[in-house]
Amino acid sequence: MILEESVREVIDTARIEDVVGDFVSLKRRGQNLTGLCPFHNENTPSFNVNPARNIYKCFGCGVGGDPVKFLIELEQISFPDAIKWLARRYNIKLKEKELTDEQQVVFKEKESLYLVNEFARQWYEQQLYETDEGKSVGLSYFKGRGFREEVMRKFGLGYAPNSRDAFTRKALATGYKKDQLQKLGLSRNGRDFFYDRVMFTIHNLTGKPIAFAGRILKKDAKAPKYVNSPETEIYHKSNVLYGMFQAKQSIRKLDNVYLVEGYTDVISLAQHGVENVVASSGTSLTPGQVSLIKRFTDNVTLLYDGDKAGIKAALRGVDILLDQDMTVRCVRLPEGEDPDSYLQSVGTTAFVDYLTKQRQDFMIFKAKLLLDESGNDLGGKTAVIQNLAESLARINQPLKRAEYIKQLAELIGVQENLLVGQINKAVGSRQKQLQQDAQRNEWKARRERPQPPPAPGPDSGGADPGPQAPPATHGDEGWPGAEPGWYGDEQAGMDPGAPPPDFFPGAPPPPVEEPLEEELAIGHTYQERYLAILLMRDGAKLYDEATNSTIAQFLLVNVQDVLDDFDSPFYRLVVEDARNYFQEKGKPADLDYYLAHADQKVRKLAVDSSISRYTMSPNWVSKYGKYLSQKLPEENQRAAADSFIRIFRQEKLQRKIDQNMRKIRELQSAGQHEELIPYLKLQSELIKLKNQTLGENMQKFTPPKYY
Ligand code: UTP
Ligand code: MN
Repeated sequence: MILEESVREVIDTARIEDVVGDFVSLKRRGQNLTGLCPFHNENTPSFNVNPARNIYKCFGCGVGGDPVKFLIELEQISFPDAIKWLARRYNIKLKEKELTDEQQVVFKEKESLYLVNEFARQWYEQQLYETDEGKSVGLSYFKGRGFREEVMRKFGLGYAPNSRDAFTRKALATGYKKDQLQKLGLSRNGRDFFYDRVMFTIHNLTGKPIAFAGRILKKDAKAPKYVNSPETEIYHKSNVLYGMFQAKQSIRKLDNVYLVEGYTDVISLAQHGVENVVASSGTSLTPGQVSLIKRFTDNVTLLYDGDKAGIKAALRGVDILLDQDMTVRCVRLPEGEDPDSYLQSVGTTAFVDYLTKQRQDFMIFKAKLLLDESGNDLGGKTAVIQNLAESLARINQPLKRAEYIKQLAELIGVQENLLVGQINKAVGSRQKQLQQDAQRNEWKARRERPQPPPAPGPDSGGADPGPQAPPATHGDEGWPGAEPGWYGDEQAGMDPGAPPPDFFPGAPPPPVEEPLEEELAIGHTYQERYLAILLMRDGAKLYDEATNSTIAQFLLVNVQDVLDDFDSPFYRLVVEDARNYFQEKGKPADLDYYLAHADQKVRKLAVDSSISRYTMSPNWVSKYGKYLSQKLPEENQRAAADSFIRIFRQEKLQRKIDQNMRKIRELQSAGQHEELIPYLKLQSELIKLKNQTLGENMQKFTPPKYY
């Protein structure tokens, strides 16, 4: 934590004209300076800087404040980060409060990971621009795609040569540690993770390299086209959008973001002047990514391929966007084109023209699409109405919803009240859900709550979640022989062919099942599936003889408070179904119940769970390997449930912590200090809960008697 006196010194030193001048070109006008406002789009300057009072003010959009506020708002950084930025700018040495040893370890560890990635980025760049192989293979490829060097530098493009260990050897010789390289997914066992590929750097919001993606150039059916860094301490894929760092200012200015699928689409558009563009990198949008966008704009324009897959991808993300009150538009590109290819083929002017002309409201687009597919019969129409009603139920603004109802009813050719009826139904079932949640909270409140530790101060920057459980160390399991898998978070860095780690000691190693592609693509879905399987397969078995409790009870109790954070509605339903069953019958549902379940999808999962062994996502297994070992084979089902719950809660809570932190930052930069308090409290509670899930002090989660 930065000491108050240092903060003062920085604030007293910072000059508004310097700080703004770093971002905006300013002209003197009398005592003041003026320029084009970086917060909104304008052609004549209405942005004023007053050096005497050390403040800025825009007469166009109304923003204003001191140097610190300027940085916080423009760069979307926290107060402490703004202070650090200014300290660097003015060469002020910050005095910081001593961190505890544990905090220091975590902090240094994180910082050093960024440094290693920075080294990697530079090395890949150097390979691209300065080696014969890089120039003839990588650079000529990029140039062939029309990328100019300035944009390639901006996005940190590089080249990983066709050698199995060139990078690792260089990194080790330069003094970087093997386990850091390993942790970042850059190398393992002295071998390079990325080779023979052109490289894309993935940055965080402040421009630090947090991950990489490599694209293969050879046409090789076996290897995936892109490989991506695995999830790491500094790379949480579900909270990152490719290109956000480069796009954020433009997004804010134009108050709109284009969402595309591919890395190359982002770069190509940016080079041609469409800078407000980010990529979801081929997976469906997550709530975390939507919150990220929301910091800069409420308007999203989806720019997806005209083919079926592209449209499907677009449809998938939309409800999540609506949940957060985004206005969603879309542009459908001609069949067979992606944004990059289409731009290259028609040129910038025609492309931008196409975007503005073809842009349409997403609900209308979706309605037309569904109508096209459904045919005009009654059954088809009913399904369309139902589908649309579910999206409309997510729109919280009444006027907007009313407007849609009018337009959509006309489009479908039904009376408005038919649609209204369906929406009410959908809203109703959402409300029921909310009531259930309230009930659950009451139940939770009765549970013994741990004492929260002192809340982190409002200027702690919050990035630091306090002392953490020791990072999981793990062996070399699961390392890809040739090429890592790519699709979705959970697959990164796993080799389906390698023997899985000894997760069920004594039992034959479980084969890794491939869930549906669509399910894999979303955050924790893989793990939620595993939870559902444990419930079905082991639910009725004994967890603890002393309390005569079952695995189902244990699992249910321990996922109650994170149910809201499930990524898969289906697996959440399975859990809720199990809970309802238990509450009604006073005993857990057994496999037979699931095998005869009314829902076909549940029956299918029950069959699956009974005939094959499942394991947690290989990614989690390797991340938490240390916590998975146990020695008593006769306790397998309990050990499996135990280790699963620890990790599951760890991941869910971490995500909650991150989400809450964003809220805290938002309030901090908006100066709403009153509202901050509950969030700060929640934060320390969450951190405490999380710390209980791993490590020496792990609390035993046992079902309370009344459950
Ligand atoms: P595309 O196959 O459309 O690639 O995948 P692209 O970005 O247009 O690349 P070029 O133009 O062929 O070079 C879209 C996005 O899906 C993710 C990547 O993020 C990619 O940019 N993807 C695709 C992967 O992560 N792995 C893959 O194997 C394929
Ligand atoms: Mn492409």
